[in-house]
Amino acid sequence: MIEIRENISLKPYHTFHMDVYARYFAEYDTLADLKELLSSPVLKDNRFIHIGSGSNLLFTGNYNGVVLHSRMDSVECTDAPDDVVYVRAESGVVWDRLVEYCVAQGLGGIENLSGIPGEVGASAIQNIGAYGVEAKDVIHSVNCLDIRTLQERVFDNAECGYSYRSSVFKKEHKGKYIVTSVEYVLHRHPVFKLEYGNLRAVLGDAPVSPASVRNAVIAIRNRKLPDPDVVGNAGSFFVNPVVGMELYSKLAMQYPDMPSYPAGEGKVKLSAAWLIDHAGGHGKKVGGAAVYPKQCLVLVNENNASPGDVAALAELIRSSVYDKYGVNLVPEVNFI
Ligand code: EPU
Repeated sequence: MIEIRENISLKPYHTFHMDVYARYFAEYDTLADLKELLSSPVLKDNRFIHIGSGSNLLFTGNYNGVVLHSRMDSVECTDAPDDVVYVRAESGVVWDRLVEYCVAQGLGGIENLSGIPGEVGASAIQNIGAYGVEAKDVIHSVNCLDIRTLQERVFDNAECGYSYRSSVFKKEHKGKYIVTSVEYVLHRHPVFKLEYGNLRAVLGDAPVSPASVRNAVIAIRNRKLPDPDVVGNAGSFFVNPVVGMELYSKLAMQYPDMPSYPAGEGKVKLSAAWLIDHAGGHGKKVGGAAVYPKQCLVLVNENNASPGDVAALAELIRSSVYDKYGVNLVPEVNFI
């Protein structure tokens, strides 16, 4: 089924929960519906964007076009040799419901990605990551629809060109494809990744299983990250910046406590949260928008913030970090 509604408040459809409007809001249940929708006059005559659960977006105002959303939500598992299980999930499956389902089946590979807001389609475009695992580590292939030709196309993992919070779908293929489903490769006897931060410490003496790791990750997230249903936010507002050796060496000498992580030949990843915190970001507010006190990388809609409040706060933070460290923070959140 296809459902198209007009002049819809997007408040429930993005996690900053601001009351901005879309001229049209269109949802579909099957691939055939999506093809029909893309051929319909309303899509031909208007610009459109496809959203998941809007957990990585900042609508800068009303959207005078069509906001598209998938309601395709099936999940299928197929056993393969060597304890491998292929899990195919459609684009509209809520990411954490997928993780919960896989963990309940005893399947390992995505338990570190527990509790991340969003849906399957967007997670494969964004290459979501947390606690030492990224979506790319478990994605086998991504099924897409070519928006122009309506042909289906499968991208294997290598063709997705994954990197930190990015893929070909955000670069050379931006706006060309809609992700319809994703196939993951999970394991009945996984090798767990427990080295990030205090994950192992929070696990304590609990036997290591997909379920215990999921519980530990959720406990850590709940301590540091705001629940978007309680206080609007879009997770990390900026990506962690990657800088060259020259700038890194200069900063490391001046700020020996600054966290840093190797990021390939001649490059170092810095912690955006640390830079923001130490550039005086803690407690900063503009209008109803605020820096979240327990994690400076998260901007929250504390009190009826307007999109302009969040954008102004983001700019204030970007410029204060640039002025102090010479590092330019780039948003992870997409401005629409
Ligand atoms: N830190 C501060 N001040 C703060 C918060 C953190 O100085 O207010 C320091 C911490 O002490 C630590 C460092 O910053 O040394 C890193 O902090 P954390 O482990 O919380 O991770 P992050 O780099 O800030 C990234 C992801 C998160 C993900 C966590 C855990 C990005 C942009 N963010 O945050 O992802 O949950 O690691 O893996 O890569 C998201 O993408 O929306 C997101 C929440």
